[in-house]
Amino acid sequence: RALLQRRLLLLSALAVAVRVKALSRDDFPAGFIFGAGTSAYQVEGAAAEGGRTPSIWDTFTHAGRTLDQSTGDVAADQYHKYKEDVKLMHEMGFDAYRFSISWSRVIPNGRGPVNPQGLRYYNNLIDELKRYGIEPHVTLYHFDLPQALEDEYAGQLSPKIVEDFTAYANVCFSEFGDRVKHWITVNEPNIDPVLGHDFGIFAPGRCSYPFGLNCTKGNSSSEPYIAAHNLLLSHASAAALYKEKYQVKQGGYIGITLLALWYEPFTDLAEDIAAAKRALDFQIGWFVDPLVYGTYPSVMREFVGSRLPSFEPEESKMLRGSFDFIGLNHYAAVFLEAATDDPDESGREYYTDMSVKIAMPNIILTKVPQTLPILKQTVRTSSDGNQNSRQDFVSDDAPTFTATPWALRKLLEYMKVTYGNPPVLIHENGYPEFNVDPANGQHEQDDDRRTNFIQQYIESLLPSIRNGSNVKGYFAWSFIDCYELTMGYTSRYGLVGVDFTTKNRTRYYRSSGEWYSEFLQQHNGEG
Ligand code: NOJ
Repeated sequence: RALLQRRLLLLSALAVAVRVKALSRDDFPAGFIFGAGTSAYQVEGAAAEGGRTPSIWDTFTHAGRTLDQSTGDVAADQYHKYKEDVKLMHEMGFDAYRFSISWSRVIPNGRGPVNPQGLRYYNNLIDELKRYGIEPHVTLYHFDLPQALEDEYAGQLSPKIVEDFTAYANVCFSEFGDRVKHWITVNEPNIDPVLGHDFGIFAPGRCSYPFGLNCTKGNSSSEPYIAAHNLLLSHASAAALYKEKYQVKQGGYIGITLLALWYEPFTDLAEDIAAAKRALDFQIGWFVDPLVYGTYPSVMREFVGSRLPSFEPEESKMLRGSFDFIGLNHYAAVFLEAATDDPDESGREYYTDMSVKIAMPNIILTKVPQTLPILKQTVRTSSDGNQNSRQDFVSDDAPTFTATPWALRKLLEYMKVTYGNPPVLIHENGYPEFNVDPANGQHEQDDDRRTNFIQQYIESLLPSIRNGSNVKGYFAWSFIDCYELTMGYTSRYGLVGVDFTTKNRTRYYRSSGEWYSEFLQQHNGEG
């Protein structure tokens, strides 16, 4: 009996010893950055205050072009509540806050005179962050082009944007660069032109294919490629200016942030494997190939032909190496197959050009008819041993993202192998609730699914780091509930909720925010 008791004691001691250790930030290398993000139009509000003029998103939302026909006029009102927000970030233990500057707040007509009130707002916000030791990671252009430039020369479609963007960037570097050490030139220039100039669900709402939603038919299906080309050159030109004139003096870093879904082949057939690789080239290669090699991926040239612009030798030179880091916004894996018969059922040019079909979506959207490609409900597991089951993907009651952390690992490996392991920041990763009733003030305080989602992704970074991936930081999307593009207030991502039914836009912790805060402040050996 005594022996049995001793064995039992030993067993329970062992069980305690091997108890799964809670994830702690000490598991990450020193200097690894944790934070969360937002963007100007999505949180600031004060749309007509302080000398700001409309951006293309004001025009688009005021035309009733989003799901709930709402606008970002007030949004989360961060313009007036930035002090409260910075205090919250401090309470949560953020190292950094990723936010964007509204171009038309700083330079109301997109070009020309600078607005001192705009400068004052961002100076105040940056100073407040620094007071708490929170590093500002600042995006210069997060979808909200000044309307004046859209009116004058069709915005992204004109090469004139390069000069205006560079002049705007110059103002920001010189006014804020003494305190801002991380600059992101453009956010998601690899999807904005597609949604804004092909699908018509982002401002300025042009379509290469008419399919409802009051879409104005675009001039040609070249538009997304021309817009992206001009954004690439805008990035390179601003980065060149920064490197020449500011970097040494100010000691900061500059990069660009891309949407980076992972595309997984639906079957092991060679044509599906090629389709998934093609989609990665169309999405990531579209920007990173020019930034690393100075040219577009050859597969894009092959499939898009002369509708894809080319770079002059001088431009290629300016593009190559014009970044200190690449930001990746990663949300989901999408299973693809080659398009054999009809092109993509939605008829949208970008996907038609790519010649792929979505075989199994990660995102199951129920109430967004006609705004996204028609999704087929077939399912398959990934081939790499980190599988998601049919149940994970198809769920009637919870139309949202399924966590596929294996896909982030594959993405980081892809960046390492394909592009020589550039420094990478995960600039967005988060879990949306769709179909939220905007009248529901304090939505989903207990958001365990979100906690579970971000926890899995954060944890999945550890093996990538051990494998030598050059990943330097993780930003959850989003810090607080935002005005969500296309979906308005029917979709929420916030670690901290915002009650949009109250005049002062009350903030409240979600359990995911509490978890993140504990994770950031708990150290190994504690608790
Ligand atoms: C991408 C964008 O950068 C951000 O503005 C948006 O809210 C999130 N992803 C979620 O859709």
